[in-house]
Amino acid sequence: MKIAVIGPGALGSLFAAGINRTADQDLWLLDHDAQRAARLDNKLLLNENGQELVCPVRITADARNIGPVDLVLLCVKSADVADALVRARPLLNVNTLLIPFQNGIRHLDVLHDLPFHVAIGVTAQGATLLSPGHVRHGGSGLTRIGFLEPQSGPTLKRLNNAAHLLNVCGFKTEISPDILSHIWAKLLINVGINALTAILNCPNGDLLKEPARTRMVEAVLEGAAVAKALGIELPTDPVAMTQQVCRDTAANISSMLQDVRRGKTTEIEAINGALAAEARKLNVPVPVNEELIRQIKKLA
Ligand code: PAF
Repeated sequence: MKIAVIGPGALGSLFAAGINRTADQDLWLLDHDAQRAARLDNKLLLNENGQELVCPVRITADARNIGPVDLVLLCVKSADVADALVRARPLLNVNTLLIPFQNGIRHLDVLHDLPFHVAIGVTAQGATLLSPGHVRHGGSGLTRIGFLEPQSGPTLKRLNNAAHLLNVCGFKTEISPDILSHIWAKLLINVGINALTAILNCPNGDLLKEPARTRMVEAVLEGAAVAKALGIELPTDPVAMTQQVCRDTAANISSMLQDVRRGKTTEIEAINGALAAEARKLNVPVPVNEELIRQIKKLA
């Protein structure tokens, strides 16, 4: 299979290093930054279980060097999806399956009516970018991939092939017939954890202590009310799930706190912002989320 991973961030580097290390595939990593792509010098460093592994991966900033591929794993931030799709055009044709992996739900808006196949990915893989090209694999959570609309025949086969590849490479992956409910389940976890950890400047586990815990629970319950109004059935109790993620990732610095610390644009619009936008359309009050948005905008 010919595969391109787009975005040398934490998740993109983890997927590229893991696929290249395990599977005999035609793999490329596409960066938008030509200077960084050159500096990476066709290799990634994977820190796994305390060991450093050098993984040779072909890295380029020009999608024309790659040409059409069978599978694209799109691992850029939500706000960069539209631009990444334009740059990725040479990779994409009617046979390509694209799987975007983003936090939040904003990216779903730009994934309609595209002339290639699009599934959606939701992953609980833990990855931290230690420096450009150097990624730490923090924990192996489940990855789910699925189509928003039911598919069959060769289109479904492409998804099966992608799941098989990821499983062979050690990224436990399931095909989900109801990916939207998993997208929302992950959204509510991010709604509860990301903004609050960034505002309080604390690791995820600190949200289990009062008064942060109450605020986290309120933010998640507002999100659950929006999901209910949209008719989305969540796969698990979102409050219990969010608290479990806080326990499982107690020492983690959330991606939003990392962005705030680095002075980078946060994903507040893709997470709490997108939730508040849905809530407005449905007349569901989300005052806790609106306050979180205001506070993050003051920080960034
Ligand atoms: O965005 C993040 O940081 C992660 O999705 C999560 C699950 C909140 C863990 O830090």
